[in-house]
Amino acid sequence: MKRLGILISGRGSNLEAIAGHIEAGSLDAEIAIVISNRPDARGLAIARQRGLPTVCIPSKGMDREAHDRLTFATLQNHQVDLVCLAGYMRLLSPWLIQQLPQRILNIHPSLLPAFPGLEAQRQAIEYGVKVTGCTVHFVDEHLDHGPIVAQTAIAVEDTDTPETLSARLLREEHRLYAEAIALVLSGRYRIEGRRVIRT
Ligand code: GRF
Repeated sequence: MKRLGILISGRGSNLEAIAGHIEAGSLDAEIAIVISNRPDARGLAIARQRGLPTVCIPSKGMDREAHDRLTFATLQNHQVDLVCLAGYMRLLSPWLIQQLPQRILNIHPSLLPAFPGLEAQRQAIEYGVKVTGCTVHFVDEHLDHGPIVAQTAIAVEDTDTPETLSARLLREEHRLYAEAIALVLSGRYRIEGRRVIRT
């Protein structure tokens, strides 16, 4: 059974969705460890309620690489095969990314390369796009940038606010992340340049 390490900072709805897919049998994996960099993350409580192993490694005031070294040691202790960032609001150090080449996934609430960074849903509305979506990608050393594993598009309605758009996107995120994790765990892909090609 492949082992996931999930990194969170907040609400934890993607974590919850991944756990739900595993429980329902639609994702063949186990959550080996949930790591939060914030002690008050709601996702930590969700993980504990589900009986998942959790660790909090507070990052406040810590040097980025020093914090990532602690995170990496925890991932190694739990023999993690794949790391999933799920609302992890901290940039990873190049050091950590180099330890886990093509072993870290992220989900972002826009159709990358549009609207990287914070508040992607608000950025999409303010830009006036008619279609947006969500993206699961491998993490590389640039923000919201690595090879794209999967995307889903949805329409932006004239009446949308960042909140309504985020809510509709989240439903898609919760499905897309599990699918993308399953693909990566299956190993049935190769990466050519930026392209993730199914094999
Ligand atoms: C999601 O919108 C995700 O795409 C982004 O951060 C948010 C995390 O939400 N990276 P949650 O903590 O999984 O509920």
